[in-house]
Amino acid sequence: MTQKFSLPRGTADILPHEVALWQDLETKSRNILSRFGYREIRTPLFEETELFARSMGQTSDIVQKQMLALKSQNDEADASNFALRPEGTAAIVRSYIQNDLDKKEAISKLFYVGPMFRGERPQKGRLRQFHQVGAEAIGPNTASPYLDAELIAMAVNLLKEAGLSAGQFHLKLNTLGSSEDKENFSKYLRERLKPHLSQLCPDCQNRFERNVFRILDCKNRECRAVVAGLKLDHSYLSEDSRKYFGDVCSALESLNIKYEVSFALVRGLDYYTHTVFEISCPALGSQDALGAGGRYSGLVSQLGGPQVDAIGFALGMERVLLALGKTEAEGQALDLWLVSMDEKALKQNFLVAKQVRDAGFSADMSYKLSSMKSQMRLAGKMKSRYVIILGEEELGKGVVTIKNMQNGEQEQVPLKDVAKIISSLRGD
Ligand code: HAM
Repeated sequence: MTQKFSLPRGTADILPHEVALWQDLETKSRNILSRFGYREIRTPLFEETELFARSMGQTSDIVQKQMLALKSQNDEADASNFALRPEGTAAIVRSYIQNDLDKKEAISKLFYVGPMFRGERPQKGRLRQFHQVGAEAIGPNTASPYLDAELIAMAVNLLKEAGLSAGQFHLKLNTLGSSEDKENFSKYLRERLKPHLSQLCPDCQNRFERNVFRILDCKNRECRAVVAGLKLDHSYLSEDSRKYFGDVCSALESLNIKYEVSFALVRGLDYYTHTVFEISCPALGSQDALGAGGRYSGLVSQLGGPQVDAIGFALGMERVLLALGKTEAEGQALDLWLVSMDEKALKQNFLVAKQVRDAGFSADMSYKLSSMKSQMRLAGKMKSRYVIILGEEELGKGVVTIKNMQNGEQEQVPLKDVAKIISSLRGD
């Protein structure tokens, strides 16, 4: 028996009837992002594993459990240092440094659209290959609350432009403060969590010393109850950080962006400082984050680059499409379908199709003769705007019947008058 292959678990084929939905989301994303001055950047799908470990943090779930490392059969030692990218930020920062972008512009507004890879346990909305549209603003001139507010507003605009209504998603906002504040925050958390240590799950008991922030994201019921009872506040913040966050909130309000301050929002990646945010869609169930982001003041210098500030976000495209609830794109796929009732008609239609395509319209036909009914069914399936019917009678009279599939009107035009067919397609 021949072996049948299936796609790897946690990946998906995007079939032709779904591709138009993806293209629509990509086009709208590109439009919005460029309206805000962001330009597209494309980096490799894999990078040195160390780049991800150093930026996202050794103790992050992604680095500990979800990296998809590459192994080459030719040079194992070399290739084993690479991993498929689990996110975009680290690679963009690597490219920013490597291409000396700081010397070329005061602010680099970059965006990306493409697949990311994480070896997670697959479930609805959680894949091993998924897609993100993301944006990063990096540079010496980027430490401004206006930029934070603008970037968050851009993410919200993007979701609205994609077709979601404001009621379908929810914006949560927090600040971790500067790296010193973040240190204070972790001390503050440990003090408050210490009395409840025995109530936490074994994973969180481990996290207590290694990465206490992760406890705030734990899905375990008892851990959540402990966290809910902590009554967190912003007392760990310095005056400057408190003012910065207040300015971000005011700027968001001036843009009419609704948000909720969530003291427990810390995000799962180590590089964040100051503003962090997450946009969720409650209707999606357990994997409800549509996107997230935040400021990362120390990452560029930590990876060997200049001391510049940065902020970014990424939306999960599969989740946005799930939230939209569409499985098939609307609209017409084809301009003209040609029906041929005998060999002579097929030969003639073959040439008409060429001329129609040369004129810039889409045209298709079946290459084997079948009944009128089955060829018309194919035209319907292709959602063709017009159909040409060429049978024995038409050939005898030297005409073709052209039918407008939207309003059912049809007319006969001289067989040789392809220009007339084309002008019908054009809507003249
Ligand atoms: P993240 O929260 O890890 O952040 O991912 C951003 C979004 O990608 C999530 O909110 C979710 O919609 C989607 N996503 C993540 N993992 C999966 C998965 N396994 N399956 C489906 N969708 C998924 C980042 O990646 C940061 N790089 C965002 C950022 C950019 N921060 C600053 N700049």
